This record gives sequence, structure tokens and C-alpha cells, in this order.
Amino acid sequence: MHHHLLYRSLCACIFLFSRAILGAAAAAQIPLSLAAATGSLDAWLAIETPFALNGIFENTGDGSRQDGVDEGIVIASPSKEDPDYFYTWTRDSALVFKCLVDTFIAASDDDSGDGDESVLQTRIHQYISSQAYLQTVWNPSGGWWNGAGLGEPKFQVNSTPFVGSWGRPQADGPGLRAVTMMAYARWLIANGYESTAERIVWPVIQNDLSFVAAHWNSSGFADLWEEVQGLSFFTTLVQHRALVEGRDLAVELGLECAYCESQAPQVRCLLQTYWTGSYMDSHPGSGRAGKDASTILASIYGFDPDGGCDDITFQPCSARALANHKAVTDSFRLIYPINAGLQAGKSVAIGRYAEDVYHGGHPWYLTTFAAAEQLYDAIYQWHNRGSIDISDVSLGFFKDIYSRAAVGTYAASGETFWAIVAAVREYADGYLSVAQKYTPDSGELAEQFSRQNGIPLSANNLTWSYAALLTAAARRRSIVPPSWSEWCSTDVPETCLPTFAIGSYKAASITSWPPALTSKGGSEILPPACIPTTPEPSPTTPCTTPPTSVTVTFNEIATTEWGEVIFIVGSIPQLGSWKPTDAITLSAYRYTGSNHLWYQTINLPSGASFEYKYLRKKRDGAIVWEGGPNRAYTVPKQCGLSRVMRNDDHWR
Ligand SMILES: *[C@@H]1O[C@H](CO)[C@@H](O)[C@H](O)[C@H]1NC(C)=O
Ligand SMILES: *[C@@H]1O[C@H](CO)[C@@H](O)[C@H](O)[C@H]1NC(C)=O
Repeated sequence: MHHHLLYRSLCACIFLFSRAILGAAAAAQIPLSLAAATGSLDAWLAIETPFALNGIFENTGDGSRQDGVDEGIVIASPSKEDPDYFYTWTRDSALVFKCLVDTFIAASDDDSGDGDESVLQTRIHQYISSQAYLQTVWNPSGGWWNGAGLGEPKFQVNSTPFVGSWGRPQADGPGLRAVTMMAYARWLIANGYESTAERIVWPVIQNDLSFVAAHWNSSGFADLWEEVQGLSFFTTLVQHRALVEGRDLAVELGLECAYCESQAPQVRCLLQTYWTGSYMDSHPGSGRAGKDASTILASIYGFDPDGGCDDITFQPCSARALANHKAVTDSFRLIYPINAGLQAGKSVAIGRYAEDVYHGGHPWYLTTFAAAEQLYDAIYQWHNRGSIDISDVSLGFFKDIYSRAAVGTYAASGETFWAIVAAVREYADGYLSVAQKYTPDSGELAEQFSRQNGIPLSANNLTWSYAALLTAAARRRSIVPPSWSEWCSTDVPETCLPTFAIGSYKAASITSWPPALTSKGGSEILPPACIPTTPEPSPTTPCTTPPTSVTVTFNEIATTEWGEVIFIVGSIPQLGSWKPTDAITLSAYRYTGSNHLWYQTINLPSGASFEYKYLRKKRDGAIVWEGGPNRAYTVPKQCGLSRVMRNDDHWR
């Protein structure tokens, strides 16, 4: 124990000492301030987050820029040489705007009316319109009429093609962009602007989804770092989410996306093949170890706040994603001098991958933020589920930060749950503190910081760095994006097939936005119902007033013939007071050959106890009651619990 303490303070001394020398030698170029380096994380975030949002605005065309950047176009960085990032990448722009759309949705929900929302919303409209146009720009990857041009990774800031040589086409951009625009489309629908979502946004989304359905299994550049050809875990995960959400959004709009529906399970199948047994191989066949921060970025990109800790979709709290977090973060401990002495379980600076040599292969801000964000996401999910599972796969991760960790399930009613949550939160905060320590006083976030001494390096004011800070800081405050019904997509086909589907491509030409698309307030963006794989969440947030009503989804497995309908009826007025004529119809929308699911979501008073049964109405109108005794249920009346899934009913 003493030995360790001594060792650590010795390291700190050497570290401060070398910084002092360096500072004297290069004071002019190291604007690191002691205030920034030693202030509390909360104090730093309070200053840095508005700065970051402004940094994104500065790097996005809004019609006022004098340097040729079109409205809605995001520049990767203002840096014009070494490196020249004065271009717009489809990938970076989509990731940055996903952050802005989620920020907008959270702000419009809280209804403070401070006007920030309309500024954000204007930017979002400009972004979507700019992408509708960019999709149609003929470029070295091809044209838009058959979708080939959608794979072009970057354009000039004035929306003309970049014709220099480059790794192209690249496969992650369209999926990322579709998910960003779908988030906004779902907000429009939830607030009563369905026709705007359908007329203006859906056509742009549809082109990108068509590209994903056609190209998810193509060889070529799929790598978000633009370096290697072939498979990329990040890209496969992004494509999967895009197709699942595309199918659901199409249904919400009364349309269909048959190619989303047919391809999503196959992409999900491929997604499973990246697991090595202890981490996700980010780029199978690339010749690298495959421990890569892009897998952490993938996990936070697929985060569903209401999701289970599912390995299938690599949720942040899943055993595989946590084991992977350890494998990836450990791979940076020994290679960076600034991480010296920080053994497993201590927060460190994170780069892209250990073999990286690009611009010196230093740590990156955005990957260091991502290491924190995955852990905040996991904490949110554990609270939501009311328990933490530790398995053989995740034990190593937990042991590093909580030495007494053992395989088991820890409910929120016990002390262990809270001890683990506190340890994980401290660990997550530690990653943000590392980035804080190496952020200059000005607040500017570059792409990288030196592995030797933490000086900012490579492109300055990297837009993606700012977005990565904002999303990590939001998750730290439990501000999360809407659910994408992750738990509906956890069945995996037995055999993975190399397939594709042909969608359709049309120039999305309607880009004039109606005025006053204001929030209706309190209109929650609900995911479509489906059979859940998660147990009912048990609430843990302390509060004094539990909700007065709870949205309960009843899922009933009942094999029916064509023309038959299943109803639910029960002893309370909301369920028809046992009168078959007032029974509630269940939906067969998700009924398939292998899953005979009928479901309905009903708003019920908290705490209500009742009995109920299912009814079958035959094609000729005859009513058949299910057998057995009445079923009984008590709606939970608990703080923080507003939605419940019941998934254990079978027709009898
Ligand atoms: C295509 O899909 C098959 C089946 O999942 C898989 O084995 C193969 O690696 C995939 N190739 C690419 C380039 O996605
Ligand atoms: C970075 O952004 C800040 C704030 O907008 C600005 O003052 C600074 O000049 C920018 N740096 C570069 C290299 O563009």
C-alpha cells in the first residue's frame, strides 16, 4: 500500500518537474493554465461546454461566413495546412449534427422557452437542406441516380466535389447521416409535423438507407479512420442501427422500407462476427490487433437509454462492451509517456489504436471523451434496469475499479450496486479530467495532444472534438437521446448471408421549411412497441411524487388464423370493466411466422390492481375467452418509472 502511494507521488513529481522544464522552454506555445489543469471537473465543464457549442457554430456555415462555406455545411476544422481539414466530411458532419439534434430535442423537452432551440433548429434545417443538395452532386465516386455518389467521403466547403485522390467510396457516411436526420424526423412526428417529416426529411433519409441496404456487404473502405479496406465494426454497427430505425420510421410515416426490413437481420448477423472472446476486432483482416477506440465510439453510437445490456447490439452496459472498454483502454497505458504509472483501472489518455502513426499517433480528445461517455451510458442503463450484472466476460473490467467484484447480479436495493456505480462514475470522470488537463486555457480542442507532454497537436478547433465533449458532458448529467427500440433487434439469424437489396434514389428537391415548427411540449418520442428482452426496470431515482399514470405495454403470444383478432379486457374501466364490447384491440403489426406477437400500449393509473384476460374474436364475430384463472397485475407506483413492458403472457 505505502509502496504504491510512494510510487505514485514520485511519478507525479517527475511529471510536474518535466512540465516545468518544458513550460520554460516553450511557454509561448503551451497555453496550459494551472486553473484549467487543477480546477474541478464541474467548473471546467461549465465553461467548456458553451465554448464547444460555439466552436461547432463557428465551424458551420449559416449564411454569414465570408470564407465560402455554404449554409449548413460543417467544416472538419479551420486548419488549412498540416493538416488541411478545410473540407466537409459526410461522417464528421453527421456525428456533429447528431449531437445538435439531440441537444435540440432535450432543450425542446425542458420547455424553458429561452430561445436556444430556435437557433439550433435553424441550423438543423440548414444542415438537412445542404445534405439534400450534396447527395445530388456528381463526384469521383459516381452520381446519385444509382446511389454510387453517396459513398463520396468529403466535399469542398462550397458544396462542389473534391476531385483529388482519396480513399473512396466510404461506407459509413450515409448510415450516420440517416440516423441523424431520423432523430429529427421523429421529433417532428412527435410534435405533430408528420407531413414535414415525410415531404422534406424522409426523401433525403431514403436515399441514404438505400445506399446502406445495397452496400453494407460490399468490399471497399468502411473504416472511419479512412485507412484500411475491408470490414469495420464501427461501420457495421452504424449500418445496422440505420436500417432498424429506417424500418420503424417508415412505418410511423405510413410508408415502408422493405429493403431495411430484409437487410437489418443480416447486418446484425455480421455484427456478431467481430467478437474475439475478449474484445471487438475493429478491422478483421487488417493485420492489426484490432483493439481500437472506434469500437468504443460504436458502442456509444448504438446506445439506447431504454435498451438492455445486450451483447447483440453491443450496448454500453453489455458484458462485451465493458470487456472491450478494458482491452482498448489498457492498450494505451504503456505506449504513451503521459500515461506512465497509471495501471489498469486508472483513467488515461486514449488514442485511436496502439499501432497508429498518423501525425505522430498521439492521443485524441474525442476518443478520450468517448471512453468516459460509454461508462456514463452504462450507469444510466444500470439505473434504468435497477441492477448490474457481472459475468465472466465483464469481471476483469469490474475488478480493475472495484477489487471485490464477483460474478453475480447486484440489485439497486443493495450496497454493492451503489459502490460499483460510484467507482465507475469516478473512473469515467477521470477520463474527462485527463482531457481537461491537456486542454489549453483558451478552451480550444484540437484533434490530438502529445503523448510526451500533452501539448495540443494536429488540426485545431476540430469540430468533432467539440461534439464529443458535448455528448460526454450530457450523458454525465443523465441527458440521453430518445430510445431506438434496441431490444426489438436482438434476434440473430442462424446463418449469416452475404446479401444486398436495391432501394430507390430520388433527388430530394423540397427544401423550404415551414415556419414555426415549435415544440408542443411533453410529446415524448416513444419507440415502437415490440417484444422486449429486458426485465421490467425497477426505479432507483429518489423523488417524492411518483407519476400518476404508467404506460404499460402488454405483449401476448397467441397463434391466430387470418381474420382473427386478439383483445384484452379487465376489471378496471381502462380495460373495459370486463365488457367484451369495450375490450381493447391488440396490434398484430409485429406478428411474424416465428413470433406470434399481439401487443398494445395502454395508459393505466399508477398503483392500480386489477384482473384481466385475453379474448379472441373469430372471423365470424364469435368471441372466445382464453382458459384458466384470471390474470392479475398491479401497476407499479414508483418514482422515475413511467413505462413498463409485460412480456410473459401466452394464450391459454
Ligand atoms: C459479407 O457478409 C458475409 C456474411 O455475413 C461475411 O462473411 C462477409 O465478411 C461480408 N463481407 C463484407 C465485405 O461485408
Ligand atoms: C479556434 O477557435 C477560436 C475560437 O473561435 C479562435 O479564436 C481561434 O482563432 C481558432 N483557431 C484556429 C487555428 O482557427
